[in-house]
Amino acid sequence: MKTKKTKAPAIDIGISGGERTKIVEGLAALLADSYTLYLMTHNFHWNVTGPHFNSLHQMFMGQYTEQWTALDVIAERIRALGHPTPGTYREFVRLASIKEVEGVPKATDMIRHLVAAQEATARTARELLPVVDAANDQPTTDLLTQRLEVHEKTAWMLRSLLEQ
Ligand SMILES: [Fe+2]
Repeated sequence: MKTKKTKAPAIDIGISGGERTKIVEGLAALLADSYTLYLMTHNFHWNVTGPHFNSLHQMFMGQYTEQWTALDVIAERIRALGHPTPGTYREFVRLASIKEVEGVPKATDMIRHLVAAQEATARTARELLPVVDAANDQPTTDLLTQRLEVHEKTAWMLRSLLEQ
């Protein structure tokens, strides 16, 4: 006996298709910035040198580990909203507001780059808040709020290292 092919039912969670598309565009930008920030932090964990090597190496590890976990949450929210998620370097470069850092900066310049990238990621998350509020999309609001808290706190901690 032949089994019938079943088509997956259309997504119907109370958020219109147009609103879901707009939210997904913002989440894709956030994922791209988050991935770029993650990779920058891991790169600096590997390449940092100087008298504060140990504390910066450890601090960067804590940061990139947290960011790595967040990437999955952002990508899977995109999937739950019914869209494919970007997942290639080419797409991340196109979508990210953060520029990659060439070469190996000095430790204090690494910290400056990370402050800027943390703040850029916070701005990308914040820009999306009015869109998700208007669509009554509380799970995405919750996700954005959590990411904002982490990026703003981490930017403060990194900036504190630069104060004399
Ligand atoms: Fe390591």
